[in-house]
Amino acid sequence: MNMKPFLPCLTLGLVFLGACGLEKPPASLKFPEEKKEAAAPVAAAPAPAVAPVAEKAPADPKLAAGKAVYDTNCAACHEAGMMGAPKPGDKAAWSARIPQGVETMAKKSIAGFQGKVGAMPPRGGNATLTDEAITNAVSFMVDKSK
Ligand code: HEC
Repeated sequence: MNMKPFLPCLTLGLVFLGACGLEKPPASLKFPEEKKEAAAPVAAAPAPAVAPVAEKAPADPKLAAGKAVYDTNCAACHEAGMMGAPKPGDKAAWSARIPQGVETMAKKSIAGFQGKVGAMPPRGGNATLTDEAITNAVSFMVDKSK
């Protein structure tokens, strides 16, 4: 008879009497810790759900509409600050522009213009956007940057 499997049992057997003869320790000896580890990510899961709340649409319906226009049509350049496109929330980048007024900035955004650093394409490059949609988007950008 091969005694090798029983050798560890001579030592372990003193601690885990019940484990002798089994290749692995009984599940009951192992699981409580593993379960705790598995539960940790579940406990942390609600955290990311909090993040979108900070980015939720503004209460003002025009600003909310403007955010939707901005997210899909303007953010590609303006979030990245591409070619000097002022990023909403970057107060330094907006402080010299805001005094023109939303109406003037909306007109320039509708027509497109060449700035000192880069060019802002007419309607952000989306000809289907209405004047109102552009104005809402500009209002949203300005509101975030005051
Ligand atoms: C292809 C890149 C690009 C896209 C897309 C884009 N912009 Fe711009 N925008 C620019 C750049 C570059 C400037 C800065 C030009 C400068 O002053 O040097 C700018 C400037 C502006 C300004 C400041 C105007 C001023 O008078 O200073 C407003 C407002 C603006 N964009 C609104 C929008 C809106 C609204 C959209 C989406 C409908 C949009 N942009 C999409 C590149 C873009």
